[in-house]
Amino acid sequence: MRHYYKILDHLPHVPMEIQTRAFNEVVELKSQCLNPINDEHKQRWFVDREGNPGQSSGYLRHALGDDFYPWVRENICETFIDGGVAFTEFAGRPMLGAHTDRTRKYSLLYVLQPGGARVVTRWYQDPGHPIWREGIVHIHDHSQLVQLAEIEIPPRTWVCINAQCIHSVEGIQTQRIGINISLDHDWFGLDQ
Ligand SMILES: [Fe+2]
Repeated sequence: MRHYYKILDHLPHVPMEIQTRAFNEVVELKSQCLNPINDEHKQRWFVDREGNPGQSSGYLRHALGDDFYPWVRENICETFIDGGVAFTEFAGRPMLGAHTDRTRKYSLLYVLQPGGARVVTRWYQDPGHPIWREGIVHIHDHSQLVQLAEIEIPPRTWVCINAQCIHSVEGIQTQRIGINISLDHDWFGLDQ
């Protein structure tokens, strides 16, 4: 059975020094975007499940320093695509529109600041399409989507989410900040 997510609470916490750096990088990200890994979703328009048009929150990722990758290799997983601090900023609609990820199959998250009282990651099926999608998908009209799973990712806990099924992040009211690692290899058995 394929999993939408797995909670990996046996994995070690991110050292405080790196957590502090992540918060500092967000301040830097807000003033000038240095070394962005990507800038997905920003200004993407969609219609939400209630039929209201709006703009997706922005999603930025930023490198986390020379010691971050060695720490990840030693403590979390041996190979990965990239990693850093991920920052979602509320922009008009309190959600990141439904999508599959552009550059990875799995996304490993360690949320530092959820970005609202109840921020939920939800997986959906677009009727007429397979649950598990090939390539990059962005959903414009969310009103037809069928929900498959959801999780309110607990702060400061590693959670691996499956990015091959369309998913959104909903309930964003303030800055959502987390440490994020992109994976192509199924290290945590989500597809088994
Ligand atoms: Fe995603």
